[in-house]
This record gives sequence, structure tokens and C-alpha cells, in this order.
Amino acid sequence: MDNKHFYITTPIYYPSGKLHIGHAYCSVATDAMARYKRLQGCDVMFLTGTDEHGQKIEDKAREAGVSPQKFVDDIVTAPGGVLDLWKLMDVRYDRFIRTTDNYHVASIQKIFRKMYDKGDIYKGTYKGKYCKPCESFWTESQLADGKCPDCGREVQDAEEEAYFFRLSKYAGRVQDLLENTDFLEPRSRVHEMVNNFIKPGLEDLCVSRTSFTWGVPIDFDPKHVAYVWMDALFNYMTALGYMNEEHHDLDKFWPADVHFVGKEIVRFHAIVWPAFLMSLDLPLPKKVYGHGWLNFNGDKMSKSKGNVVDPYLLSGRYGVDALRFFLLRTFPFGSDGNFTNELLIQTINTDLANDLGNLVSRTTAMVEKYFGGTLPEARQASPAGDEIISLVTSLRGRYEVQMEKYQFQNALEEIFKVIQRANKYIDENAPWSLAKDMDANGPRLAAVLYNLLETVRVCTVLLTPFMPGSCEKIFAQTGAPAEGQTWDSAANWGVLPAGVQVRKGENLFPRIDVAKELEELDGLMKEAQKAALPSVETEPLAAETVDFETFSRSDLRAVKVKDCQPVKKSDKLLRFILDDGTGTDRQILSGIAKWYKPEELAGKTLAAIVNLPPRKMMGLESCGMLISAVHTEQGEEKLNLLILNDAIPAGAKLC
Ligand code: MSP
Repeated sequence: MDNKHFYITTPIYYPSGKLHIGHAYCSVATDAMARYKRLQGCDVMFLTGTDEHGQKIEDKAREAGVSPQKFVDDIVTAPGGVLDLWKLMDVRYDRFIRTTDNYHVASIQKIFRKMYDKGDIYKGTYKGKYCKPCESFWTESQLADGKCPDCGREVQDAEEEAYFFRLSKYAGRVQDLLENTDFLEPRSRVHEMVNNFIKPGLEDLCVSRTSFTWGVPIDFDPKHVAYVWMDALFNYMTALGYMNEEHHDLDKFWPADVHFVGKEIVRFHAIVWPAFLMSLDLPLPKKVYGHGWLNFNGDKMSKSKGNVVDPYLLSGRYGVDALRFFLLRTFPFGSDGNFTNELLIQTINTDLANDLGNLVSRTTAMVEKYFGGTLPEARQASPAGDEIISLVTSLRGRYEVQMEKYQFQNALEEIFKVIQRANKYIDENAPWSLAKDMDANGPRLAAVLYNLLETVRVCTVLLTPFMPGSCEKIFAQTGAPAEGQTWDSAANWGVLPAGVQVRKGENLFPRIDVAKELEELDGLMKEAQKAALPSVETEPLAAETVDFETFSRSDLRAVKVKDCQPVKKSDKLLRFILDDGTGTDRQILSGIAKWYKPEELAGKTLAAIVNLPPRKMMGLESCGMLISAVHTEQGEEKLNLLILNDAIPAGAKLC
């Protein structure tokens, strides 16, 4: 093997809230790749960690009333936190870095100074948009409709002293790297980077901030903290000992073999990261692979929408291996994938219960039934044995081609083609018929079953990176000593001893009743998501002021409900007949049927604006508007009419 060392990384995650299945996707893929390389006999370094600095964390900690360090400590180490999730998902990393680790902080300070001394970092002025109430700087492109993306208020032009990295100086070299090497994959992402970011002109990058303090202080100018991306990207090297004495693995593992990253952060890894390394004359990582995003039911997963998929819930129901398998079997790694509960359950049923589970349980059951669990030594060639043997011994090669390209879906497809063939082989050879005359057919039956056990063994070796726990159980059931199931053994036939002992164990992947399970799972997810939504949300206050003159032209009055009825053919509107103190009834239509039954409101004293121009709705005239309070509660719109004290007479002016 030419590559004895293998260094692979995930992005380091923001501990700003709970991680979800989208985050787990990248870690599981990295874990499968790392386990595959270990299986091949490589000395693997799998690095992951947390990206703990920045304004977002500082703000969230303030909201929570704790220090930023305490805030991130809780999310990283508490039950249900980052470390716990990787444990749950069986993600076996070799090293975990936190950007608040002292050695990393000191390394970043040294790196910053080195680039400054070299002249690649210089002091300048950061021009941007500033939201005063949020104390946040934004770039033009971050604004939402020209307003602050956080609070929706107006922003102002602002300037701040800052350090800049000469990114522009490296534009040509980076473009060459992207266009003329395999540095970035999939290839489609290269065009996006070059056309959207490099060709329009790469500007120098602002690499320090003074508007918040939760970051790595620049030691020679401590009112500045390092830009989070500079702090974060270098984790891949500081974790090996670059600019520190904490670790000593640079010679062994740098340059990295591959950084796995989500598509939205490819820009930082494929443009900024190589430019930083070029500035320091350091070798570049061999590859950046930008994987796609997992959506849920066609929609982007987001906490505010309340549609994030909880890995704890799913692995609790189906086992962590089924979940790991589903993620890598179903979605091509380089493209976006649409997660649905239906697809998850179908994949478990089809691949794991029907194909793999069935093959294992039929084979082991037959060895038990016909041979009391121990295959006899004497065997006779079985028909079609040769075809199976060559299919199985060549599988490793086909699998390897796909794994080397990070095409997990295709690698698994190769394995499942063999599993399906093996199930067909059972039907073709009908062991139950052979068993009718053991004297004549016993040796042939033993050969059929041995071929099946070897097929299961090789497939299981190659499945181990995806489902480590379940594969261990399959080895135990099929009499394959786990420690002997090496990479070499996966290309060899006849590894199991002739008298192999089999014991049918638990059903590893029980079939799921799709309709029943879907209903239950959908319900559970909705409940969990509802609970995760912010309990009460109100609209941000209006940014625009209204002069008093304009405001006081609105005529707000107390009105009494004389009659309230639903409006025919409308499920929204209620029709109110109101006493407004003038002696003439006033009719107002109000879209509140979702929240009130008409009979609840009879006789109530309400607030209305009475000098709006009359409006026709469903053929009826509405003369004014009732005032109500609106807010969102756990994602649901709530409305409460302003119900006044009954002592207030009809027509009293509200001011
Ligand atoms: N802290 C940065 C990474 C710095 S690396 C030097 C960051 N953190 S993150 O926590 O926001 O995201 C970590 C990874 O999770 C990213 O690669 C991101 O693409 C991935 N995902 C987050 N949601 C995702 C999905 N819904 N689907 C797939 N991956 C997604 O970015």
C-alpha cells in the first residue's frame, strides 16, 4: 500500500445549539472513511472538534446569562452535547480539538504574527453595515432586504479598524489549483468557486474584529480578536502540533489526505485555506470534498422552522447502525439529499431486513437445522459455486474503487448486489430439497451453506466501516472470528474453517410495519419539534417612527358586541354588529374565526379602529377593524382580541 498514513477531518462544529442529523451526516461519512482506511491497514488520524469563538457564541452566552466558556463547555460536554452525539453515532475519532484549547489559542497568535511579519496581514479599515441595537457589523450581501438579518432594523454605514489578509495576492495561484488539479471535488464545485468568487475579483479578507471580545486576542494589538474562520481553519494543523508542542504529528500526517466539508463552507476551504497555507509556504491538503446538504421533506433543516431531525430519536428506534447505513446508502455524498421518514423505513426494510438480515438468518438457521450448527468437513462442489466465488472475491476491488472516490452509495450498492445474488443462490439451490436426502446430498448441501457463509463474511468485512456494531454481531452468528476479518481476508475465499460453528442469534434488522411506524414517527417528530421551537415569539418593533399628528388621526374606540355570527362560506371571518356609542349599529368583519367561537364574544367590550374606509369582504361591508394582540407560540400563530373592562362605555375614545 503506497499510502500508509491517512489524515481525514470533519469541519469543527459550532457549539451554538444542539447538533442534528445534518451535522451527523458528515461525521458518519468521515468515520466510515476512517474505518475503511484502518481496515486497509493505514495509520489513520481522524480529527474532529468544535469551533467555539465568535460573536454568535458571545451573544448566545449573554442571552443565557453565562460566560461564553461555560456556554460552550455545556454544549460540548453535557449529555446530548457534541461528544455525546459522536458516542451515540459510533463516530470513532482519533483526536478532538476545541478552538478554546490553550495550545490552539497560542498557536493562532503565533500564526497571525508570522503572517503579519511577512506582510501578508496589514492594518486597514473595515467598511460595512452596522446594526446599532445588535452591535453587529454586516456586509452588504449578509443583509436581509437591506436590513439587519438578525433584528430586521435599519443599518448604517460604518467603519472599524481591522487587519486584512492579502487574499487578492493569491487569487491566481488558487484559481490554478482549483482548475488544474483535483484539489476540490466534486468538480461541479470548482466552477462555482471560480465563477462566483474568484473571477469577480477576490478582495483582501478582514481577519480581525474589535466589535466583540470572544475570540483569540491578537497579542500585539489585543483590542482585536482573530476572525473566526482564521482561528477555525488552522485547527487542522494546530491539532497536529503546528506552532505548538502539544502534539507532534505534523511530519506523519500533514498534508491532510482529505477535508470533508459541507457545501456552504467549501468557499473557506477551497479559497481562503489554501491561500493562508501558501502565505506560510506550507504544503496544501491533498483534497477538499464538498458534500451536499440533507434536507427534510424537501425543506432546509433549521431550528427556527422546527424541522430538524433528531438522531437520538431515530437511533433509539432503529439502532445507530441502521441510521448510519441509511445516510450513506441513500444519498450520493456530493449532492443534496432529501431525508424523509418513509425513505428511512423503506431502506431499513429493503436492504437491511429483506436482503442482508434475511441472508444471515436463513443461512445460519439452515446450518443449525441441517447440521446442528457445525458444518461438516467433507464438502462437495456445489453448482454455481464458481460464479458466486468469483463475484465475492472480486467485490473488494469494485468496492475500493468507489470508496476511494468517496462514493459510499455506490460502494454499498456493490455489496448489496452480491447479497441479492446470494439470496437468489439459496432459492436456486433449494437447500430444503437437498436436505430431504442427506445421505446423497449432504456434502453438496454443506458446500452451498459454506459458500453462503463465506459470502456473508466478505460482505460483512466490507460493511464494517458503515455498521461496526452490527457487523460484529454477524461475525459472531456466522462463526467468523472478528479479529481475523482483515482487508486481505475480504479478497480471499475459504477463510472460514471447514467445520465452522454457527449460532443463529437475534434478528439484527426486524422488518418494520411501514404505515404504523410512519404514523408514530411523524407524530413523535412533530411533538419533539414543537417542543424545540421558541415558546413565544413576537414581531420586532417597527424601525420607522410615525409622527404624532398621523397617529392621532386614527380613531380608536371602545365598542360593545351586540351580535356575532360566522360568515357563510368563510372559515376565517366573523361578522360583528357593534354598539359604537353613536346609536347606529356598526358592522365589522374580522378574520378571527380560528381563535374564537361567536357565542364567546356576545356582550364583550372590544377595541376598534372606526375611521378606516369601508371594505367589502364576502359581499358584506366592514366598517373598521377590531384590535387584537398577535404572537407566535411554538411555531403557531396566536391571536387574542383586546377585551376591555365592561365598565368602559361604548364609544369611549381610546388614546
Ligand atoms: N464551524 C464551521 C466549520 C469550521 S471548519 C474549519 C461550521 N460549523 S457548523 O456546525 O455550522 O457546521 C458543521 C458542518 O455541518 C458543515 O460542514 C455543514 O455543512 C454541516 N451541516 C450542517 N447542516 C447540514 C445539513 N442539513 N446537511 C448536511 N450537512 C450540514 O460550519
